[in-house]
Amino acid sequence: MAIERTSHSPAQTMAIGQQLGAMLRTGDVLLLLGDLGAGKTHLVKGIAQGLGSVDLVTSPSFVLINEYVAGAAHANMRIYHVDLYRITDPAELTSIGLEEIWNDQGICVIEWAERAQHWLPEAHLVVQIRYVDEMTRALRFVPQGARYQHLMAEFKDAAGD
Ligand SMILES: Nc1ncnc2c1ncn2[C@@H]1O[C@H](COP(=O)(O)OP(=O)(O)OP(=O)(O)O)[C@@H](O)[C@H]1O
Ligand SMILES: [Mg+2]
Repeated sequence: MAIERTSHSPAQTMAIGQQLGAMLRTGDVLLLLGDLGAGKTHLVKGIAQGLGSVDLVTSPSFVLINEYVAGAAHANMRIYHVDLYRITDPAELTSIGLEEIWNDQGICVIEWAERAQHWLPEAHLVVQIRYVDEMTRALRFVPQGARYQHLMAEFKDAAGD
């Protein structure tokens, strides 16, 4: 069951991320798809806030992976923020240790996940962000696997729709 949301501002995209972030658990993997400037990093800022993190969320384009710490209510778990924009060959993923990251006790949010092709866990939540106009973005959440179907049921209820 896919869920669609429309955002009318960067703040609203962050608020959507915050709502989702609060529901995430250890081991969750989120794949973010969308063009340059779609709003992926803004969504991650919200996700980190929703997990009670006070760390500064910035684009990991150069370092590929940023690590944040969630708040005490979320057992200070790690939030791995990955950006694969610069990956040209999925074989490079082994050298950056991506597999260790999603197997770790944390959550993993991956921008430009399409660069990894099939080198990603089968169970995951896809978030597609589409540019509609300057301030408007269409977000589509597509769950793969039972955990993410449950997550989307919870997410849908929280929105009251
Ligand atoms: N509704 C909206 N939601 C999110 N960002 C928006 C929205 N409206 C306008 N914007 C603008 O779009 C840009 C989104 O930037 P952001 O870095 O989040 O995108 P991104 O998808 O991570 O890009 P990149 O592929 O370069 O990493 C920002 O400049 C932001 O101000
Ligand atoms: Mg980004």
